[in-house]
Amino acid sequence: MSKKIFAANWKLQKNPLQAKEFCEIFRAQVVPQTYFWDHKEIFIFPQNFSLDSVIHAMKDTPVFTGPQNIHTEKSGAFTGENSAVFAKEMGAKTILLGHSERRQYFGETHEALNKKVKLCQELDLLPVFCIGETLAEREKGETEKVCFEQITQALNGIDKSKRIVVAYEPVWAIGTGKVATVEQVKEIHEKLYHKMADLNFSNFQLLYGGSVKPDNAKQLLEVPHVDGFLIGGASLEVDSFMKICSQ
Ligand code: 13P
Repeated sequence: MSKKIFAANWKLQKNPLQAKEFCEIFRAQVVPQTYFWDHKEIFIFPQNFSLDSVIHAMKDTPVFTGPQNIHTEKSGAFTGENSAVFAKEMGAKTILLGHSERRQYFGETHEALNKKVKLCQELDLLPVFCIGETLAEREKGETEKVCFEQITQALNGIDKSKRIVVAYEPVWAIGTGKVATVEQVKEIHEKLYHKMADLNFSNFQLLYGGSVKPDNAKQLLEVPHVDGFLIGGASLEVDSFMKICSQ
């Protein structure tokens, strides 16, 4: 059985000092626990200015960390962008890609995401690739179609033998307190699992994200093909993140 994944997406929160404080407390609580690391993987996606703090505070631990986005190109005249190469040189091991907030507010396209996933693979950075439908799309019965299109377009032509993590986050459940029901998660994760397998991906895990909290984590984690969570608000406090990770 593969390890359960608990991924924190801090979005535009936690300055370097706050990130360091979080990591020091978290580290002290879990690093000595062999059982924990035998069964779980922890990912932390801080804001870019806090990335160095997290990398240093989590040095010599199994924690995966990395930025919440990268540019499609390694370097060049792209003012304000962030390089995957530099992130890797700093010690990043993973990149969060295609979050719905990036698709919605920053015009992230399937084409750009396809380049970014390929770049991650070239640099041996593990992509955590987000998908998910809006409320309007769900109400039109398009959940499956939207998610499948996001997968087929952005993952087109990538190396299917390399590990990839896909995070299903229904947009209507993000930061709203409206968590998808167990039935809804079960239905879409089943379909996503078979879609990935049909596309010949051989090393993938599926996360659920959207208002995951300590009190709903246990039942969601029991859903077949839910390999872990991508957590926003509840990952900001060590206490609530730890409670979720302890499921
Ligand atoms: P919340 O857990 O705050 O709903 O955010 C989910 C999310 O967007 C994680 O990427």
